[in-house]
Amino acid sequence: MSVLQLLPLFSLLILLPLVSILFITKASARKKHSPPSSIVSLPRSYPIIGSFLPELANRNRRLQWLSDILQISPSATYVHHHYFAKRQVFIANPTAVQHILKTHFHNYGKGDDFHRTLKDFLGQGIFNVDGESWKFQRQLASHEFNTKSLRKFVETVVETELSDRLIPILSSAAATGTVLDFQDILQRFAFDNICKIAFGFDPAYLLPSLPQTKFAQAFEECVKISSERLDALIPVIWKIKKVLNIGSEKRLRIVLSEVQEFAKNIIREKKQEHKEKASLDSVDLLSRFLSSNHSDETFVMDMVISFILAGRDTTSSALTWYLWLLSKNPHVESEVLKEIEEKSEAPVYDEVKDMVYTHASLCESMRLYPPVPSDTKEVLNDDVLPDGTMVKKGMRVTYMPYAMGRLETLWGCDWAEFKPERWLEKDEAENSEWKFMGRDAYTYPVFQAGPRICLGKEMAFLQMKRVLAGILRQFKVVPVLKQGADPEFVPQLTSKMKGGFPVKIVKRDA
Ligand code: HEM
Repeated sequence: MSVLQLLPLFSLLILLPLVSILFITKASARKKHSPPSSIVSLPRSYPIIGSFLPELANRNRRLQWLSDILQISPSATYVHHHYFAKRQVFIANPTAVQHILKTHFHNYGKGDDFHRTLKDFLGQGIFNVDGESWKFQRQLASHEFNTKSLRKFVETVVETELSDRLIPILSSAAATGTVLDFQDILQRFAFDNICKIAFGFDPAYLLPSLPQTKFAQAFEECVKISSERLDALIPVIWKIKKVLNIGSEKRLRIVLSEVQEFAKNIIREKKQEHKEKASLDSVDLLSRFLSSNHSDETFVMDMVISFILAGRDTTSSALTWYLWLLSKNPHVESEVLKEIEEKSEAPVYDEVKDMVYTHASLCESMRLYPPVPSDTKEVLNDDVLPDGTMVKKGMRVTYMPYAMGRLETLWGCDWAEFKPERWLEKDEAENSEWKFMGRDAYTYPVFQAGPRICLGKEMAFLQMKRVLAGILRQFKVVPVLKQGADPEFVPQLTSKMKGGFPVKIVKRDA
């Protein structure tokens, strides 16, 4: 790039922040979440800078801002004008979601831009690749999710983590009145689980001492900095920081090496186990990758990191928001409890599958607080979306489960209510038992949809329902938040509750 070519960029870097101070001050005075939709209008776009200023002004509440815009956009589609005439399409329209995720799947990939942005963290892992490499990883990983593996997962892995680790910690917290950060507890739980089932390795991260491991903190930072890269208003800034090895990019390099070292250690231990034993007691995902034609250490390391991300951060996020919603909706809690009490104390696979009301309440909670709040694809060839929106090669198209869960057109005027019953019907033929009424995956793309639909969907539901059965049968989870204060939803690659979820544990009467 010549100096002349860089001139407009430098002027943008210097001028825009100054002009936009006014916008930022105004925006920070506004509430971060749920402003009345009536005050939202479509952002104005100007030559060269597009809608940069309103975007900058809303940079700390970008998800909420885009979600509000989609509510008032015709056909729930919004074409955002970035600076230098770059466009990005945001969609919350099920027909458009079906178009990009299924009917025109081959025209909407991860793309080069996304791949480059996440390459340092996710490398060639399944979340960051298209084509043959994706197909290969998906096929190999799919064995992990058959009924036999899922049964073993619920009845052995989750069961042991619950009875040996989680329940004793909760009993002790109930007895001493200790405040726990439940988001942290659930992340530890999910992390132990995914390592055990996918790699046959127990990191023992959920212990009564709640050990601070360097790895977990490093992983957390990798997710945060990588998400910031993805959402960067001026991506060239992180690229310059990376070249100069300063600021967040320097930090990323440090924490990344910590995470990679951890993943490599798991791989080395597994290789050692393969050497020592002629045949393994059980074949896990890691063993399958190591015995495949693609067993070089970097590739397998990328796979390990992707699976930790998939397994640790999604179910813990979903359960954190779920337990908060449950605490605010006692009638839902009593229905869930009723269902749990109808099952055995340690419910087996089929009983867990059959927890219909709990299943519906989890769907409902993820409608409002989806663990993956938005997901971006790159257009590979010029195309037209079903509502007539033209998309050009190289453009980003982002579908937004967070916005979709808040659309009156999809969920009715009571969309803001936490109402599991909207997923249920009384089955008259079965003594008026609840029957689950799913929504199509394009109206509810919380697990994505089409050929790349989440591989771990069933595993996630089984784990979450079994964990809830284990916790709620014995304990009440009581948030310790300031009166009237709502926790803040932080959208990253996977969503978080800002500052954690402080709770007290109260033992239920026998
Ligand atoms: C509530 C829990 C979960 C939610 C909401 C969720 C959601 C998603 C979403 C939205 C995607 C698409 C991501 C993308 O392509 O950018 C995805 C993909 C995936 N998920 Fe999940 N997930 C959950 C739990 C899990 C669990 C427990 C696993 C198990 C390891 C898992 C494994 C995967 C895998 C392997 C993919 C990649 C699929 C592909 O690209 O073909 N997920 N998930």
